[in-house]
Amino acid sequence: MDETHYPDPLPRHVAIIMDGNGRWAQQRHRLRLFGHKAGVDSVREAVETAREVGVRYLTLYAFSTENWQRPGLEVKGLMTLLRTYLQAELDTMKKNGVRLQCFGQKDRLPDDVRKMLDKVIAETEHCSRLHLNLCLSYGSRTEMIGAIQEISRKCASGELKPDDIDDHLFSDHLYSTGQPDPDLLIRTSGEQRLSNFLLWQLSYAELYFTDIKWPDFRRDQFLEALEEYAGRQRRFGKTGAQAETTCASS
Ligand code: FPP
Repeated sequence: MDETHYPDPLPRHVAIIMDGNGRWAQQRHRLRLFGHKAGVDSVREAVETAREVGVRYLTLYAFSTENWQRPGLEVKGLMTLLRTYLQAELDTMKKNGVRLQCFGQKDRLPDDVRKMLDKVIAETEHCSRLHLNLCLSYGSRTEMIGAIQEISRKCASGELKPDDIDDHLFSDHLYSTGQPDPDLLIRTSGEQRLSNFLLWQLSYAELYFTDIKWPDFRRDQFLEALEEYAGRQRRFGKTGAQAETTCASS
């Protein structure tokens, strides 16, 4: 697909649940970590494709709060992959204008991973071509409860009044503050669930499920998802005719 044939319109923000690494490995009679390793190559390709076509925000669900319950060896392996990925990609991110942010409980990550993460976040802070959000030790309910606690504290101190609370104020207390909500959610591997991922932010997202497992989800598969998105009509609660008028006049 050359530059003149990119799907149009493009989503501004794509969120991905990268699922199926374990099954992909098991089908090849390999350990689960082999699937995660192959999954890192898909992460690289997703970032590169998003940047190439002009998606501005990419949010990847890399490790959930529930994933801490996985066997110790798998968790350790995932953390090693993460550290290696961050070390290897820092220069490329800076060169390509990719700004990294982390959504999740950074403090729960091993010290060396957190330090590397902080370094990449700080050194890419000025980049703006693609915002890459890595969700690490992330859970949407925990994120929302944190927001409610912070807003409650501000109400108790008089900094805010309960009537000040609206969609925007709540959004501003989430990890994704300042970013547009995802327009498109992709989940790989045939599962059709949200799994505690961006429950507030995905309210109006288009959902795209594919049977392809994450290690096989590469540039062509990403472009296919973007193509399908381009053909969807987004109504935001309006009728089809109203939505068409809004699109035509915007
Ligand atoms: C889900 O597949 C995948 C994960 C829990 C981890 C995702 C991690 C990566 C893609 C690699 C590391 C990421 C970065 C950013 C370096 P699963 O293990 O649940 O697969 P299964 O459902 O087939 O068991």
